[in-house]
Amino acid sequence: MEKVITRNWGKPGSATIDGAIANGGYKAAEKAVKELDSKTIIETVKASGLRGRGGAGFPTGLKWSFVPQDTGKPIYLCVNADESEPGTFKDRFIMENDPHMLVEGVIIASKALNCHHAFIYIRGEFFQQTKIVKQAVKEAYAKGFLGKGIFGSDYELKVTVHNGFGAYICGEETGLINSLEGKKGQPRIKPPFPAVSGLYNCPTVVNNVESLCAVPWIINNGADAYKKTGTEKSPGTKLFSVSGHVNRPGVYEIPLGLPLTTFINDPAWAGGIWKGRKLKACIPGGSSVPVLTAPQCEGVNLDYESLAAAGTMLGSGGMIVMDETTDMVHMLKILAHFYAHESCGQCTPCRTGTHWAYEVMSRIDAGEGRMEDLDLLIRIADGMAGQTICVLADALAMPIKSFVPKFRAEFEAKIKRKAA
Ligand SMILES: Cc1cc2nc3c(=O)[nH]c(=O)nc-3n(C[C@H](O)[C@H](O)[C@H](O)COP(=O)(O)O)c2cc1C
Ligand code: SF4
Repeated sequence: MEKVITRNWGKPGSATIDGAIANGGYKAAEKAVKELDSKTIIETVKASGLRGRGGAGFPTGLKWSFVPQDTGKPIYLCVNADESEPGTFKDRFIMENDPHMLVEGVIIASKALNCHHAFIYIRGEFFQQTKIVKQAVKEAYAKGFLGKGIFGSDYELKVTVHNGFGAYICGEETGLINSLEGKKGQPRIKPPFPAVSGLYNCPTVVNNVESLCAVPWIINNGADAYKKTGTEKSPGTKLFSVSGHVNRPGVYEIPLGLPLTTFINDPAWAGGIWKGRKLKACIPGGSSVPVLTAPQCEGVNLDYESLAAAGTMLGSGGMIVMDETTDMVHMLKILAHFYAHESCGQCTPCRTGTHWAYEVMSRIDAGEGRMEDLDLLIRIADGMAGQTICVLADALAMPIKSFVPKFRAEFEAKIKRKAA
């Protein structure tokens, strides 16, 4: 497999502009700015089958094609580098190792969208990554790759780097837009979608860091070359961040369609379950997606369709692996605490549901639960899913609705232990 996103990681100076240029960086941006029109770029990205790597998997080229070009308003691009989903830590590695790949992706996407001002919204706690990205942007301005008349053309592009302030919900695209505008980071009701009315009520595209980083390679090598890796419906490569009970936690670029158990066990990837223990469960795509039991992991491939067929999602590629010693009740309690803490509070089912679920989980975990609590948890989850402005409520409902039935015996055992 030819690496797309991580190809320069570890090469000397890969985070500097001279290192990036030595590695072939900015060629695609120059080509896009000087030789390609907006339509050609969008059609190429569409043809590549690239899907958004932020979680929802929406086709990137199609998203760009929705932006109206005739409103007379400015068009904005916002890079989503908020990365706060538990288990997900791929974008921070991209920003640390190859920030110029991101800047190059921003230039090409902006050219495609006719955008002249792009924003890179970085998670507040990413101090080091912010410093690196700001330096990369400064270097790109100094080389004439950003600003007025870039690459000697008449195209102008400004890039602003902006930090979040520690709220997971600012990763939701309309929460991010509100936060950028200086408002409370609370998601907006959709429609209108950002493509029509986003930042300052202007047409806006929000893209994940990894999605944009795939674009320079696609422009350099073509859509057909990109589709040679991966599966027919999930082409290309994907970064997976793997944490938990494996021998080699870290960030890996894999061809989409790789068997999940190969990824967990192969010495080239996660290297197997640590301490010679057995796999108990796996959350494949970030903490908000349904959990798979060990038997369910067999025969599942890491691509959008295969994971959906197994009843879960590829999400952001934040894989959490749990060995046979894992207390699944405690694990769900921790997740409930996270989502209750991060709910922005606008929607009653989410504001009260996440806290209620956490309370019920806490008493079960403390050995003070009742058998009825298990059905109650499912009812709480049903009351949250699909009822709210954004999908944060679903992000807890899905774990509840998978953990409780799949590990019911463990939940019951904790409840019975107290009764005994
Ligand atoms: C609660 C919540 C948190 C999110 N956090 C992130 C995030 O940290 N990074 C990200 O790229 N997308 C995140 N998303 C998804 C974004 O709303 C959006 O779909 C994504 O940035 C679009 O980029 P893409 O099309 O390139 O994937 C989040 C969504 C929700 C509902
Ligand atoms: S679902 Fe939760 S996080 Fe999303 S807008 Fe409603 S209250 Fe806020």
